[in-house]
Amino acid sequence: MDPAAAAAAVRHRLRDDAEPVRNLATFLTTSFEPEAVQLHSAYLNRNLADREQYPATDELVQECVRILGELWGGDGCRVVGSATTGSSEAALLAGLSLLHRWEERTGSGARRPNLVMGAGVHACWRNFCRHWGVEPRVAPARPGCVGLDGAVAAELCDESTIGVVAVLGGTLDGRYEPVRDIAAELDQLADRSGIDVPVHVDAAGGGFIAPFLDPDLQWGFDLPRVVSINASGHKYGQVPPGLGWVLWRDRDHRSGRLGFPVNYLGSNHTYHEFTFSRSAAPVVLQYYNFLRYGFAGYRSLHARSRRLAQDLAARLRATGRFQFLGDGSDLPVVAVTAEPDLKLSQLARRLGECGWAVPVYQLPPDLEELTAMRVVVRSDLRPSDVVAFAAAVDEFTRPHAV
Ligand SMILES: Cc1ncc(COP(=O)(O)O)c(C=O)c1O
Repeated sequence: MDPAAAAAAVRHRLRDDAEPVRNLATFLTTSFEPEAVQLHSAYLNRNLADREQYPATDELVQECVRILGELWGGDGCRVVGSATTGSSEAALLAGLSLLHRWEERTGSGARRPNLVMGAGVHACWRNFCRHWGVEPRVAPARPGCVGLDGAVAAELCDESTIGVVAVLGGTLDGRYEPVRDIAAELDQLADRSGIDVPVHVDAAGGGFIAPFLDPDLQWGFDLPRVVSINASGHKYGQVPPGLGWVLWRDRDHRSGRLGFPVNYLGSNHTYHEFTFSRSAAPVVLQYYNFLRYGFAGYRSLHARSRRLAQDLAARLRATGRFQFLGDGSDLPVVAVTAEPDLKLSQLARRLGECGWAVPVYQLPPDLEELTAMRVVVRSDLRPSDVVAFAAAVDEFTRPHAV
């Protein structure tokens, strides 16, 4: 086939997919400046794994790890970490490191290890548990809250707990779990029982929001109990799909068993990722974004999104028809449940007719009888979009329309 004809056929094939900018379901970055697009295509053909031929690209990875380590309250000279395909790969690596380190600490092959988490954790954590034979020890959801609470986290821990996952920016509600309280409860548990449980922070969304918008919040490596953190560069890091980060506070906290040597590309290199060959372009764009935005740029970009999310929440609240799981005050995400007479699935269908994609989902046990609807506000949403979206919701929710 002629290239132009093949490209046209592909476009035709994909014509009915949602328009990414109007996809309010996704956390992924959906708009890019022309310079970013040019850089992305210029470096698409570099293999991130080929450190022999692309040492400067590998140095960008290390530079990004240092920058993130410092943003997350760590020592930039001591943190170690990897670029991954997303937070899911990062979570699998962090979970495996917790498991190995627990095995090394306790030497206990006989007991089944467990991982403590809140009801709202992303599916990648259950995935980790399923594939590595770890019991997911999940705190039940409470009315209006799917997040983990410090006291409950400590109650669920025992000698077989490999770690506690604390989420900074929940997938279902956009809320931060109280990482400092969780760490403090685990400190007390260690003092009274000797059970010493490390914390991993899943900051898939919050890792690129909290350092800029919530500088006084303690959630990262400044808490000694936090051993590792993951974040998605392709969410609020503003990078195209295909980039996550996992960092450990230092070399001692990353299990040595994650590393594997490879020498067939040239000299010896040790890798700590699951994925080997892939494009270096997302890492190049992460570094570009650090230069392009800097601290002040990221802060103003995300402050705008948070303001828009809070404005949207206020408009939805004014209808009097929703309860809020998340109101945009942590991640710029609005998540609501509604009275039984208001069918969120019908509302989402109506919004779909107006061109907005919004997800409706069942909440986890013990709130499974409730459905929720979530809007992710990203940097390419305009104030006029918020007004139009809220007006469409208002029209649907007015008593005569139900
Ligand atoms: C809290 C949390 N953890 C992990 C993930 C998985 O991230 P990724 O899509 O980058 O693999 C997500 C995705 O939304 C998430 O919200």
